[in-house]
Amino acid sequence: MSHFWHPFGQLYQSATSPIIFERGEGIYVFDSDGKRYIDATAALWYANVGHGRQEIAEAIFAQARSLAGYSAFGNFSNQPAEELAEFLSARSPMPDTEIFFVLGGGDAVETAAKLARRYFYEIGEQNRTILISRTNGYHGTWGFGTSVSGIPVNRAGFGELVPDTIQVQWDDSEAVEEAIVRSGPERIAALIVEPVVGAGGVYPPPSGYLEAVSGICARHGVLLVVDSVICGFGRLGSWYGIERFGVVPDMVTFAKGVTSGYLPLGGVAVSGRVAEPFKTPGSPVFRHGPTYGGHPTCAAAGVANCKILEEEHILERGSLLEGELLESLLPAQESPLVAGVRGGTGLLAAVELGQATLDDHPGVLDRLAGFARERGIITRVLGRGVAVSPPLIIEPEEIQMIGGGLIEALNDLEKSLK
Ligand SMILES: Cc1ncc(COP(=O)(O)O)c(C=O)c1O
Repeated sequence: MSHFWHPFGQLYQSATSPIIFERGEGIYVFDSDGKRYIDATAALWYANVGHGRQEIAEAIFAQARSLAGYSAFGNFSNQPAEELAEFLSARSPMPDTEIFFVLGGGDAVETAAKLARRYFYEIGEQNRTILISRTNGYHGTWGFGTSVSGIPVNRAGFGELVPDTIQVQWDDSEAVEEAIVRSGPERIAALIVEPVVGAGGVYPPPSGYLEAVSGICARHGVLLVVDSVICGFGRLGSWYGIERFGVVPDMVTFAKGVTSGYLPLGGVAVSGRVAEPFKTPGSPVFRHGPTYGGHPTCAAAGVANCKILEEEHILERGSLLEGELLESLLPAQESPLVAGVRGGTGLLAAVELGQATLDDHPGVLDRLAGFARERGIITRVLGRGVAVSPPLIIEPEEIQMIGGGLIEALNDLEKSLK
């Protein structure tokens, strides 16, 4: 029995039948039996430049050898964190962007939520504490992230969560305005949205939705926090995952693709407006941040990864290949088990099974993912379906292999249910 208690893992199952991955190369990973899989999920939506890039490993090695870790609290700093902040600020859609580094997406959400409240506190609008989020939204599993989660099972059983949160229907911009007006705009701090809902089931935004909520937030003085932990770093074809909608947010949370997962790193890009009360001589300290915020070796991985994304034009591929991925999955709709296929905005998509199949066959999604794995394709079970979000370096023929493999897995599943 393994003693590794896995995130989101059933303790008995993960302890008795772990699948051990040993090696990665490009879009492929290999398990301990040497079996090769297409990593059709880019691990957890993060291996954007693919596996096994020597340049990133070497940058990590070089930094670890010279100064692996050091505090960046106060005015202590290090060259990789400075360089990465400069790089990311220069590419931000927001004016005068400051970069606050943490270690992952959940940390980034905590940071943005606290900073939204603290910003209003500093400008004398202390009552603006309410955070609005959306059904289906996923914002990590820490305190604020759990409290604004739009996935009910992820909130259940933890007692009282962070107060002053409101949830609205994910695709209804008018519901945002109604919620603001109902509580009183003077009570609302921020709206948090994923450009494309990821872990909640891959829901691209309805046309005009993000533009509409951006306008509503601006009208009522509410901060717009874009959670691009999945959508950034090329998944939607750009750095911050929001540029294609022409929306200028107040903060963007990021993680995952910033290092392609070579080391843990996340952060918040903060607009000049939100940073302003903290920026002048003698202004208050934002008393927040983890021990490893601005960690030099993690930042070195980020710098190396971001250079690859830019110099090899990988960043744009999330949007260039989005149609190809959706097309490759659409034939799955012919399966009697399938209720629908979603995608087409960025390199992520989901195949959803019908409710009757889900009700009649508990565990059916795990079985589908298992059949896909047998055929050498790793997919991710979420919501009522399975999702795919391959590394951005994938080629069109390989995308066809994902679609083909998943359709064969659906046939395998259909036969097994008879
Ligand atoms: C949109 C979004 N926000 C936040 C998170 C949490 O990130 P982490 O798992 O790195 O804490 C995730 C993770 O998938 C995410 O998809």
